[in-house]
Amino acid sequence: MVALSINGLSKSFGQVPVLDALDLEIEQGSLVAILGASGGGKTTLLRLICGFERADHGSIAIAGAAMDAPLGNGGRRLHVRPERRRIGYVAQDGALFPHLAVGANILFGLDRAGRRDVARAEALLDLVGLPTAYASRLPQTLSGGEQQRVALARALAPAPRLVLLDEPFSALDASLRTGTRQAVAEALARAGATALLVTHDQSEALSMGDRVGVLREGRLVQLAAPAVLYRRPIDADLARFVGEAVLLDGLADGACVACALGRLALAHAVAPGPVEVMIRPEQIRLRPDGAGCAASVETIAYYGHDAGLTLRLSDGARVAARIDGATALGLAAGAAIGLEVQGAVVAFPVADRHSNPIAGAPPCP
Ligand SMILES: Nc1ncnc2c1ncn2[C@@H]1O[C@H](COP(=O)(O)OP(=O)(O)OP(=O)(O)O)[C@@H](O)[C@H]1O
Ligand SMILES: [Mg+2]
Repeated sequence: MVALSINGLSKSFGQVPVLDALDLEIEQGSLVAILGASGGGKTTLLRLICGFERADHGSIAIAGAAMDAPLGNGGRRLHVRPERRRIGYVAQDGALFPHLAVGANILFGLDRAGRRDVARAEALLDLVGLPTAYASRLPQTLSGGEQQRVALARALAPAPRLVLLDEPFSALDASLRTGTRQAVAEALARAGATALLVTHDQSEALSMGDRVGVLREGRLVQLAAPAVLYRRPIDADLARFVGEAVLLDGLADGACVACALGRLALAHAVAPGPVEVMIRPEQIRLRPDGAGCAASVETIAYYGHDAGLTLRLSDGARVAARIDGATALGLAAGAAIGLEVQGAVVAFPVADRHSNPIAGAPPCP
């Protein structure tokens, strides 16, 4: 069943368009993460779904029922009040009430009887992976990650049809973020909740979303499983936005492409002609025997588990590679090495480039 259905949603503030005919459908029980730059309209989208803003055009339906939609042709619109939409909203600032204990925070949105239901608060604490004894503590005595989980428990308390999460982990440090993301994703799955999360953090989107959408110029330019989005982005801008990307000029001839890193197999065929070739840094492998494409090491950034290299090819082009940390320890800036590309690459046709320096390369491997 479709839990959330958005069609042609547009919203402007004054003369400034924020959302432009956006479409999105979320299946019951799944989590969609939307990735977008700051100011791109992520919070606006969630506020429209909640009913805190009114759409200019298009429609929003929850479980098949219209929430914000045109009424006939007269320009009038249906707008269901926020409290009637049964949505759990973890807002960007996500603040808990400092004067209320954790349990009272969780039960805050319920009716009078619900607010006295200690067992329910404890069950929700358990659901988000926190000790039930936390119910009596004040929020400021919890860590940032624990407070985020309480905010989620509060959003889940009224058994909402839909949970919206606005950058819920942005205030957490890196070590806490990973664990909290996982705990929240598990809690949502256990509750069988349908969720929409918006973030500008690509690792958050890729690790949490069953599907990930990229919001650009007010629309979802691609909505796909995380691996598809990462490995098969639909254009070069998207490739750069979702992860690190090496982009080189190339010449495609159907199933293969010739570029400064040699002749490479394409993940999907493109029309013969000039292209931009997209290679992920971890696809570039070093050949200690010097075979493959000649390059020299320019810089090495050691991160521990892995390392980022900048390599200069013989034609002067610079490419980024990501290799494991142990291998990087054996390298020095200036070293001459060979490179090869592992796996298929993606090519984006370039309409306005007529000449190509790589024409006449050897046949496809
Ligand atoms: N009530 C409002 N009145 C006027 N402009 C607004 C209003 N709300 C949002 N905007 C503008 O709409 C644009 C999108 O804002 P929004 O908060 O949706 O972005 P965002 O993607 O959530 O950004 P961030 O990642 O920084 O939270 C911004 O340019 C913002 O200034
Ligand atoms: Mg925002």
